[in-house]
Amino acid sequence: MLPWYHKTTIYQIYPRSFMDSNGDGIGDLQGVIQKLDYLRDLGFETIWVSPFFASPQQDFGYDVSDYLSIAPEFGNMDDALQLIEETHRRGMRIVFDLVLDHTSDQHPWFLESRSSRGNPKADWYLWKDKPNNWHSMTGGSGWHYAEERGQFYWASFLPFQPDLNWRNPEVKQTMFDTARFWLSKGVDGYRLDIFNTIYKDAGFRDNPFSWKLVPTPDDTSGYFQKTVHSQDQPESFELAREFRKLTGEFGEVLTIGEVAARRGVLRRYAGEVVNDGLTLVFDFEMLQFKFRAEYFRALVEKIEAHFPPPFMPVYVFCNLDKRRSFHRLGNDLQKAKILAMLQFTARGVPCVYYGEEIGMTNLKLPFKTALDPIPRKYTFAPRFIFDWLDVTVNRDEVRTPMQWDGTRNAGFSSAEKTWLPVHPNYAEVNVENETRDEDSLLNTFKRLLKFRRENEAMQAGSLEFLGGLPPNVLGFTRGSRAVLLNFDEREKELQIEFSGCVFKLTGREEIKEKAVRLNGFGGVVLSSKDDPFSAQ
Ligand code: GLC
Ligand code: CA
Repeated sequence: MLPWYHKTTIYQIYPRSFMDSNGDGIGDLQGVIQKLDYLRDLGFETIWVSPFFASPQQDFGYDVSDYLSIAPEFGNMDDALQLIEETHRRGMRIVFDLVLDHTSDQHPWFLESRSSRGNPKADWYLWKDKPNNWHSMTGGSGWHYAEERGQFYWASFLPFQPDLNWRNPEVKQTMFDTARFWLSKGVDGYRLDIFNTIYKDAGFRDNPFSWKLVPTPDDTSGYFQKTVHSQDQPESFELAREFRKLTGEFGEVLTIGEVAARRGVLRRYAGEVVNDGLTLVFDFEMLQFKFRAEYFRALVEKIEAHFPPPFMPVYVFCNLDKRRSFHRLGNDLQKAKILAMLQFTARGVPCVYYGEEIGMTNLKLPFKTALDPIPRKYTFAPRFIFDWLDVTVNRDEVRTPMQWDGTRNAGFSSAEKTWLPVHPNYAEVNVENETRDEDSLLNTFKRLLKFRRENEAMQAGSLEFLGGLPPNVLGFTRGSRAVLLNFDEREKELQIEFSGCVFKLTGREEIKEKAVRLNGFGGVVLSSKDDPFSAQ
């Protein structure tokens, strides 16, 4: 029996952009509660909600100034407790987003820490008289001067996000208690923000040279250095195990690590031999997927090699930080359906970003007026360079309000002005339209979610590749089922022994005796001859 967190399906909510219940143009917790029925009817089992804790909102919640209270624009403590309760009442689970690496520079801990060299929290952050050569994840030195102490503090991400000193036992204890606090309120787990930067080299040795210019989702080395001393320390892998023990006090708890690293390193966060670390770890190479059967064959092969049972991989094609998958697919609906089918039939936990299910796409916005702090660092450079490098600098572009219907502000808010503009394609691309259209992406997600839920083999079944397939067709078995996906616009015919067809992606796939004809971008799931549960 798989634990629930290895069987589930995850939907990421960026609460600022999901649903605004009080008309101030900003999504909030009551808004999320209003839309829980939508998510239940769609068939998702777990929601992950990006941070809504007290924060100056310079990085929209990823800069926390109090982990135990709620930012007023999102609601209050009662709303948070109600959200947990209402999610559970619908038979779903809820995962909060915990930022352990850093706080806001407005957190009282940091204000105290920076005030003098001798205060009780002086050692809660990382202070040095002289910076070493480390770059932050967003480029440039991560060391910032504080006059009060005449010293520099370290920030892995942006200057207003100082890193906590996890080698200080008080800090560790306090953060562990924070994790316990929300678990005791009933949350089912955590998404753990930049988990691999929490520990740094104790001696602050300089990072070595690398030829790599920009960090990629699967490797944060870049800006001409390898991050060997600023990330992925032995203590970080140990922390994954300790955190697993802590969450174990509350039963089966999901932990999903945000780690940008090579797959061998990812695996170490889940456990070296057995899965005794984080229960899941994101795999970000696929955020830059190429839409080809060969690409996905190689990807799944590598993933299977690194995450064999009892480990469980995660399939994620977009999130709050990177280009939307629909944009990457050239806004092609048929391709998006194939991608979704792969996501829900491969062996792993699917994680879907809000709006992905209706084909929301990037909204191109200027760097200069961006609300996201990162692009404001890069206004000097021409846009096309980043597009060419496949780097998402302006994350506003993937965080526009959810498109619920064709009314003003896409039904997201009654405000005059929403915090980010609504994508102008909302008149067509919205939940209401797609609910009515049987062939929509939304209804495809719904069918896939149902199929996955009702077919144990899709959750627990092992994965073996099928050989001898036509070019640009991907095929694998999941236990007693066989999945065939045509990544090509041309139709493909192939011979295969099977006893019935249990899922058709487009409805135009043809089942013949011992053969299948897949239309362009068609996909089927077949049941094998010896499958006792075969449906038709
Ligand atoms: C993670 C989050 C990102 C945030 C950063 C700093 O990468 O996904 O949105 O800005 O951490 O906390
Ligand atoms: Ca609001």
